[in-house]
Amino acid sequence: MSQVNVGLCGLGTVGTGVVKLLKDHADEIKYKVGSEINIKKILVHNLEKERDVAIEREWLTSEPSELVDHPEIDIIIEVMGGIEDTNLLLERAIQNKKHIVTANKDLMAVHGQKLLRLAKENDCDIFYDASVAGGIPIIRSLTDGLASDRIQKIMGIVNGTTNYILTKMTDEELAYEPVLKEAQALGFAEADPTSDVDGLDAARKMTLLANLSFKMEIDLDDVEVTGIRNISQEDITFATSLGYTIKLIGIASIHHGKAEVSVEPTLLPKDHPLALVKNEYNAVYVHGEAVGETMFYGPGAGSMPTATAVVSDLMEAVKNSRLGISGTGYVTPQFEKQLKEDNE
Ligand code: NDP
Ligand code: HSE
Repeated sequence: MSQVNVGLCGLGTVGTGVVKLLKDHADEIKYKVGSEINIKKILVHNLEKERDVAIEREWLTSEPSELVDHPEIDIIIEVMGGIEDTNLLLERAIQNKKHIVTANKDLMAVHGQKLLRLAKENDCDIFYDASVAGGIPIIRSLTDGLASDRIQKIMGIVNGTTNYILTKMTDEELAYEPVLKEAQALGFAEADPTSDVDGLDAARKMTLLANLSFKMEIDLDDVEVTGIRNISQEDITFATSLGYTIKLIGIASIHHGKAEVSVEPTLLPKDHPLALVKNEYNAVYVHGEAVGETMFYGPGAGSMPTATAVVSDLMEAVKNSRLGISGTGYVTPQFEKQLKEDNE
C-alpha cells in the first residue's frame, strides 16, 4: 500500500485526537510506515455537531456501510464505543477484508476472541492496544516485548476516571460527585460512567490482559469486582491518618493453571509506587517468570494519549500489510476447543 485509506468510526474524545495526530505528525508517520494515510470517511451520530478539529465536511456520514463496505477503505479505526451493534459492524468490515484498530475494551472483553478468530479466517488483523491503559503500550508489550516470557502476575491501576476521583478526594478533599463530573468533562469517563466507578471497566481491562498473558479465556462473571462508589471522605481521611492511600487495584494471577482476576479498592502504604500514581495516570506491574518484575506507567485516558496508541496500532497495521503479514491475532486454545465442540 503506498497510500492507505482509513475509515474512522467515531469523532469524540479519542477520534478527534486521532485526526489531530494524523495531521500534526503526518511527516513522521509517512516516514515510518512508507505510506501516506488518508481519512476517507468518518462515522458519527450527529452530522450537524460542531467539531473540535478541522475536517472535510464530506468525510462525515452516519451510514456505517459507507465505511465497512467501501471498496477503497483498507483499515477501520473504531473509536465510537458500544458492544453489539459495533460487533456487527466490525464483523462486516472483517468479512470485507479490512484490518481493524479499536480502543473498545467493552467489545474486546465480550467478543474479542470471536473477532480475532474471524479476522484470522479473513487474513486480517485486529489491533487493540488503546483499549487498556490509554497511552501505555501494555498490550503491545505483552504481545511483543515480553512475548518470550511466561507471565505470572499483573497488578495495577487501569482506570483513569476512578484514579482521578480518588486522587482529588485524597489530595484536595473534594467531594465524589463534582470530581466525577470533572472527569467526564475532561473526556476520561465512559459514556456511561457507572462502568468506571463500579469497577467494570477495570475488570474488562484486567480480563483482556489476563487472557493475553495466560492464554486463557477468563469469564468476566468470574472476576471479583468492587468499585469506588461507596468510598466516603471519612474512609479516605481515616486511611490517610494511618499512612495509607486508597487505590482501585486490579490483580490477575495464575497458579497451577488456575487464573484469578479481581478489581477492588485497596489500602496501599502512602509511599508504595502505585500510591504515587495520580489523577488519570495508570500504572501496571507485570511479573514474568524470566524477566522478573517490570512496571509500566503513563496517562491512562484522554484524547491525545489514547490517540497515540490508536495511531501507533494503525501504523503497525500498515507496516504488516506492506510486509504481507496478516492474521496474527492470538486466539486462545480454549476458544478454539469450544468452537470445535460447538461445530460437532
Ligand atoms: P465519545 O463519546 O467522546 O465519542 C464517541 C463518538 O462516536 C462520537 O463522535 C459519536 O458521534 C460516535 N458514535 C457513537 N455511537 C455511534 C453510532 N451508533 N453511530 C455513529 N456514530 C456513533 O467517546 P470516546 O472518544 O471517549 O471513546 C470512544 C471509545 O474509546 C470507547 O470505546 C471508549 O471506551 C474508548 N476509550 C476511551 C478513552 C478516553 O479516554 N475517552 C481511552 C481509551 C479508550 P457524535 O459525535 O455525532 O455524537
Ligand atoms: N474510562 C476509561 C478510564 C477510559 O477512565 O480509564 C480509558 O480506557
